[in-house]
Amino acid sequence: MAKRKPLIAGNWKMYKTGPQAAELTSRLKSLVPDIMDVDVMVAPPFTALEVVAGILKGSVIHLGGQDLFWEVEGAYTGEISAPMLEAAGCNYVIIGHSERRQYFGETNATVNRKIQAALPGGLIPVVCIGESEAERESNETFSVVQKQLEEGLEGITSDEIQKVTVAYEPVWAIGTGKTATTDQAQEVHQFIRGWMETAYGNSVANDVRILYGGSVKPENIGDLMTMADIDGALVGGASLDADSFAAIVRLSINAATD
Ligand code: PGA
Repeated sequence: MAKRKPLIAGNWKMYKTGPQAAELTSRLKSLVPDIMDVDVMVAPPFTALEVVAGILKGSVIHLGGQDLFWEVEGAYTGEISAPMLEAAGCNYVIIGHSERRQYFGETNATVNRKIQAALPGGLIPVVCIGESEAERESNETFSVVQKQLEEGLEGITSDEIQKVTVAYEPVWAIGTGKTATTDQAQEVHQFIRGWMETAYGNSVANDVRILYGGSVKPENIGDLMTMADIDGALVGGASLDADSFAAIVRLSINAATD
């Protein structure tokens, strides 16, 4: 089976002012090797995008937004549109992160609108899905993930889905230090790819990149990357430390090229 090109993405969440982001980016740029085997992306807060974009010029590290609104422009105080992200140098955008769903009322329906808004201008949506601890304990993991896929990707064509990256992030593993075991993660990744196959056919399903997220660190990335359906990671906490993030990138390259 042709392995997909991995992506290691850093989600900085609501950390780093502009100057702090500049410092982290400069360190990262010097530590992350100029490799083409793995895609690397960082998603700083909106206020730091332009300064980070400037520093990343000439490096292999891509830039992403942490969210977007689906309108192009208008009277939507506090919101950011796809063209604004593109103009700031982004080619990725994280959509539907569990913290957006939990604290800001995002639903599968709003996730769907945001994906539809990201695609036309060429932003790669990193669409986050995953079950809560209570859902896992009551054996609802697959049904929750299935509903997130069905509703979140409603109307997305097979041409479009090839531009989408999915991130499976069990909510109970985010920022908690609890990582899903590699088998638990692989099981859900396989389920997601199976859903893709039913919805879009075998060849498309084989090409869709599915990241794992939730307490990823240098100590566990190698094992995660050996799993057949895990194509990289969405990293929160460990992406705020240049050494850790660069180590995750390096270890994922080794795993991908083994
Ligand atoms: P974490 O966050 O790595 O700190 O668990 C992952 C995420 O929220 O994307």
